[in-house]
Amino acid sequence: MKLPGSFERQMKQLLQDGYEDYLASLSRPSYYGLRVNTAKISVEDFLKISPFELQPVPWCPSGFYYDAAGEKPAKHPYYHAGLYYLQEPSAMLPGEVLKIEEGDVILDGCAAPGGKSTQIFSHMADSCLLVSNDISASRAQGLLRNLEMAGCTNMLVTADQVERIPFRFDKILIDAPCSGQGMFRRQPQLISSYLKRDGSYYSAIQKDLLDKAVGLLKSGGKLVYSTCTFDVRENEEVIQYCLDEHPDMKLLPIRSCEGFADGLNGLTFCRRLYPHKIKGEGHFVALLAKEGMVNKTPVSSEVFQYDEPFFSHIDQQFFRGRALRIEDRLLMVPSADLPAGLRILRSGLLLGRYRSGIFEPSQALAMALRKEQFDQVIDLRVSDERVLRYLKGETIDCRNFNLEGWVLVCVEGWPLGFGKISGDIFKNRYDRNWRYV
Ligand SMILES: C[S@@+](CC[C@H](N)C(=O)[O-])C[C@H]1O[C@@H](n2cnc3c(N)ncnc32)[C@H](O)[C@@H]1O
Repeated sequence: MKLPGSFERQMKQLLQDGYEDYLASLSRPSYYGLRVNTAKISVEDFLKISPFELQPVPWCPSGFYYDAAGEKPAKHPYYHAGLYYLQEPSAMLPGEVLKIEEGDVILDGCAAPGGKSTQIFSHMADSCLLVSNDISASRAQGLLRNLEMAGCTNMLVTADQVERIPFRFDKILIDAPCSGQGMFRRQPQLISSYLKRDGSYYSAIQKDLLDKAVGLLKSGGKLVYSTCTFDVRENEEVIQYCLDEHPDMKLLPIRSCEGFADGLNGLTFCRRLYPHKIKGEGHFVALLAKEGMVNKTPVSSEVFQYDEPFFSHIDQQFFRGRALRIEDRLLMVPSADLPAGLRILRSGLLLGRYRSGIFEPSQALAMALRKEQFDQVIDLRVSDERVLRYLKGETIDCRNFNLEGWVLVCVEGWPLGFGKISGDIFKNRYDRNWRYV
């Protein structure tokens, strides 16, 4: 790997005696991780059914290393059931540091493709609300899909400037756009964009984003700032700027793990992760808090009823928040007031669409349900060849099930999507954009 000269000089100055170790780490393979979606399955239960050899990630209780040379977890039906998310191990730290609690209203400001948003979701109670935002509308589409696959319902997915979001938050994550030095080993192609835009370019953007995020943070609220770069201008200097500009903000300590390095320039509460010291790529994490008392406004999760015959298949306790019909779409939205004038990709859960007046359930609804919440289920063993046939959008033999009409297709009890049975004919309703390839 040919490193840019300016980067080499910077790293030599930063690491001094440790530079040779860092350089040697770049020729070793990267570590690959998966994070169990504890909103669907406990870590303990997942380990009982895991088809992969897993080793724990020390800083994330639901995070595990897998052997990327031998395993293909994105090709397994459990991935399509949303039981885990594939995430770079170091990137699992910020979502743990944020410590989600009951009743939190949370902003993930730079969220696509959704590693940290899905992690935040896995810690959320029904009384929480997640606003997951990314300025790029195309990247936010991928973010929405990942949140839907995880089964998230208490959410707003937006593609806007963070300062235009008219809420106040208990918790904010700013996983900032950065020069990406920490990812050079895993994605050497990032070096060419680094040559065009290094830390001096990103530092101003990061300060601006952090400034705006502080403006959205409630008194007593907490904010995590993270990057995947080593550059002090994008890390400690951004944090110091924030502390200087906002005297009501203070830095809090982050629990250390073996191999973590402290922040530089006196900001020892911050954490630096280097690939020669831990099993993961480069990362920087800071935890900030705003002075004052916490005043929470938990989202109410009252059960509601909506007159739609399809819903007689579903346990009525599932319907929480309120129903919102927008043209042909029917949504289940959180009880919070929805902001106007914001670029919103999704409010809550898309329950389905009306086509010629007939309701068609969405893929997201299937992912948000538990098997027990639907009255007609086809539950297949993971070894059953019909699982992959279903995920590929093919028809499957359903004669032995004795069912008629809408069914929820599951693998080992975990929902994958819908189908419709008419006599001996199974119509596959797995979303064509989600198909297994
Ligand atoms: C490091 S990535 C985020 C990764 C994500 N947190 C995850 O865990 O999957 C940074 C993201 O910031 C977004 N971004 C860049 N400038 C932004 C801005 N001004 N406001 C919001 N998002 C921004 C980019 O589109 C990019 O998706």
